[in-house]
Amino acid sequence: MPPRIAPSILSADFAALGAAVDQVAGEADMLHVDVMDGHFVPNLTIGPPVVASLRRHTSLYLDCHLMIDEPARYLEAFRDAGADGCSVHVEVGGTANLIRQMRDLGLDVGLAVNPETSFDVFEPWLDQVDLLLLMTVHAGFGGQAFMDEVMPKVRQARDALDRQGLRPALQVDGGIGEKTAGVAAAAGADLFVAGSAIFGAADPADAARRIRAAAARS
Ligand code: DX5
Ligand code: ZN
Repeated sequence: MPPRIAPSILSADFAALGAAVDQVAGEADMLHVDVMDGHFVPNLTIGPPVVASLRRHTSLYLDCHLMIDEPARYLEAFRDAGADGCSVHVEVGGTANLIRQMRDLGLDVGLAVNPETSFDVFEPWLDQVDLLLLMTVHAGFGGQAFMDEVMPKVRQARDALDRQGLRPALQVDGGIGEKTAGVAAAAGADLFVAGSAIFGAADPADAARRIRAAAARS
């Protein structure tokens, strides 16, 4: 798969979200929406009302990353708000039921994995997901440093997917910029979430373009 870019609006100006989306729309394959509940991660962000506002503003695919303890309670609200896909964390448990619920709701199914969680924990679900999100920072905040130590797991996931002929997106999230996108692409990632490297740049569209080009070179 050619590399795809998912700007994370977490690093955008929430008072001017529409304008931020417009800035990157031409270079974005999807928008990454980071949902945090103050329990699963020590930070609070946004929920379905913001997704609904984004939905009215853009036709871009809305990729909702649910860093929350009880995703089952909210999946329908995200679907109704206009989410295209949701990623739930494997660490919250109940993965089989959550996958079934997302399918029943017509959501694309994403499974997110924290840096410390090993391959064996998510391996059973590889053939049931549309997107596998391997965190390359500790979930909770934008602007952290990329964790190189996750790369062997990205490689392990890529090899397993290839061996089984499976084609979910292999997404990396956290600390992605030009340099680290190349590192993650070399390990097998094909979908790159970037927040601060895009929205912290003077020209967000150009930053996204450069990240894509760096991933494509690897
Ligand atoms: C962190 C979020 C990320 C975050 C990435 O918990 O899941 O999506 O926005 O931000 P950067 O690209 O700044 O590391
Ligand atoms: Zn995220």
